[in-house]
Amino acid sequence: MATAFILVLVVVGSLLFHLLSPWYSTPIASNWQSMDNLTSLTFVITGTVFTLVVLFIAYCIFRFRHQEGRRAAYEPENSKLEGWLTVITALGVAALLIPGLFVWHQFVTVPADATEVEVVGQQWRFMYRLPGQDGKLGEAETRFVTADNPFGLNPADATGKDDVVIDSEDLHLPLGKPVKFLLRSIDVTHNFFVPEFRAKMDFLPGIVTHMWLTPTRTGTFDVLCAELCGTGHSSMRSTVVVDTPADYEKWLKTQKTFAQSAAPVRTLAQAQ
Ligand code: CUA
Repeated sequence: MATAFILVLVVVGSLLFHLLSPWYSTPIASNWQSMDNLTSLTFVITGTVFTLVVLFIAYCIFRFRHQEGRRAAYEPENSKLEGWLTVITALGVAALLIPGLFVWHQFVTVPADATEVEVVGQQWRFMYRLPGQDGKLGEAETRFVTADNPFGLNPADATGKDDVVIDSEDLHLPLGKPVKFLLRSIDVTHNFFVPEFRAKMDFLPGIVTHMWLTPTRTGTFDVLCAELCGTGHSSMRSTVVVDTPADYEKWLKTQKTFAQSAAPVRTLAQAQ
């Protein structure tokens, strides 16, 4: 009796916690409402199954509790019931997976008008690079990384000279413009995650991964590393600021290009 009652309490408590929890999610700040819809759909499906299964167990514990002289029936096979359970489980799993494939397709299909922003992950910080006037990011490789050239830009590549380099500062993004993030790691695996954007992607050493989003709300948001990357993982953080287009232009004017930042001059001299 007590066990059945506790199981019912677990169900009621879980549902109340989910419905009344103040930590469900932060207000969204990007176009990825579909990510939230997927999460809600997952909660509805798994929550329904959880509720039905646990209540069924509670019912069985109560209904078939020990009574003097009562014997359990033995039924090792029931192919009809197994058939139904297989069909229902398959439908539930498909309902969990299929909508995600559509959202994933949108997530990896970058709009043609998206501007590129490079994020460089390094133990334990994020750096950012924007294409300059020419709209192109210059070539970069880990072997060019030095104390003076933390991004590893190729000093011989002219397209990199006007790249805007943002080291140890906040990244700014203009409101309402699609952005393609190119993620490059110069050491180990990291993950670029802004909870309000509902978008995250791993950095993988040796390749450039990408994702895209359109900021839909101005504000200041935390960037977190979401992949265990060493002892400094928990402090690998940064900030992204979503500006109105006018504020963004103002900020962009204050930023230095690769050629302007004093440090690369020595790197160039060394390379020649
Ligand atoms: Cu970088 Cu965790």
